[in-house]
Amino acid sequence: MERARFEVTDREGLAPDVFRMTVRAPLIPPNAAAGQFIIVRVDTQGERIPLTLMDYSREEGTVEMAFQVVGTTTMKLSRCEVGDCLADVVGPLGRPTEVMRFGKVACVGGGVGIAALYPIARAMVDAGNEVRVLLGGRDREHLILTDRMEALDADLRVATDDGSFGVRGFVTELVLEAINEWGPDRVVAVGPVPMMRAVSMLTKEHGVPTVVSLNAIMLDGTGMCGTCRCEVAGETKFSCVDGPEFDGHQVDFEVLVSRLKAYLDEEAVSRDRFAGLAEGYRPACGEGG
Ligand SMILES: Cc1cc2nc3c(=O)[nH]c(=O)nc-3n(C[C@H](O)[C@H](O)[C@H](O)COP(=O)(O)OP(=O)(O)OC[C@H]3O[C@@H](n4cnc5c(N)ncnc54)[C@H](O)[C@@H]3O)c2cc1C
Ligand code: FES
Repeated sequence: MERARFEVTDREGLAPDVFRMTVRAPLIPPNAAAGQFIIVRVDTQGERIPLTLMDYSREEGTVEMAFQVVGTTTMKLSRCEVGDCLADVVGPLGRPTEVMRFGKVACVGGGVGIAALYPIARAMVDAGNEVRVLLGGRDREHLILTDRMEALDADLRVATDDGSFGVRGFVTELVLEAINEWGPDRVVAVGPVPMMRAVSMLTKEHGVPTVVSLNAIMLDGTGMCGTCRCEVAGETKFSCVDGPEFDGHQVDFEVLVSRLKAYLDEEAVSRDRFAGLAEGYRPACGEGG
């Protein structure tokens, strides 16, 4: 049987070391929903990495993702050009975001997590919620997808560390302002772990239900290997099938952080090895197709 060809159809840089990519994967969009993810293998020798579905098109049969270059696989992915093919794209995986008419929903995003937040914010708007999108970043250069967020029927507010875009400060200050002045019925936070933890602590104090999307290390993404286990409300959960979204007030962020550091030595070795081969790397179009 001929294997699918996961062809890269579009690609652009969004910020330093952050890229957006569109890939042909026609079986995924008909079943996809906000909050779900895909698992990508760039070449047949490579590892599988989870990336959130930033968008998808049923008409074009494509999926869209945004990724930050942090190690070997994301470095390989960043080298793929339009016309190259990825070895595998599997999905949609994970439970979709719970979307209903909550009332007022604050969607909080930081870093590359803004890409994962985008379909969630859009779905919350479509469900009839009053949505406030609160984004945080180091500076204007590192903020992504503000144009797409602006196009939503939502109130967009931005905070940057240096004040180069929006107000100067942390996104948690925007969350506190929203709690005090606006009274959200629900908060959804996606971004770096320290940000999700800080938002969850703040909203817990004020009794606002909060959902976070965990970026636990994953392998198969289907609940079989246990790599993605995390602690929620004192119970072990598998992020890939029980999540990736969980009640932020119940997540043990210490466990998450320590498990994210479990393979630092191996990742460094892999990066060093790949650095020697990176020049001229291509995923060998057709290898997976
Ligand atoms: C459900 C989910 C959705 C995600 N969505 C996005 C996204 O939309 N955009 C994005 O840039 N990143 C996303 N991530 C994180 C992304 O998967 C990792 O950055 C990527 O796997 C790193 O691989 P690497 O080889 O480049 O780096 P490595 O050098 O292997 O790792 C760098 C760091 O990334 C983390 N990591 C490594 N391997 C994995 C893995 N298999 N699964 C999860 N984390 C890992 C670890 O903290 C590690 O220290 C998501 C993670 C999860 C679990
Ligand atoms: S990634 Fe294997 S169980 Fe979740």
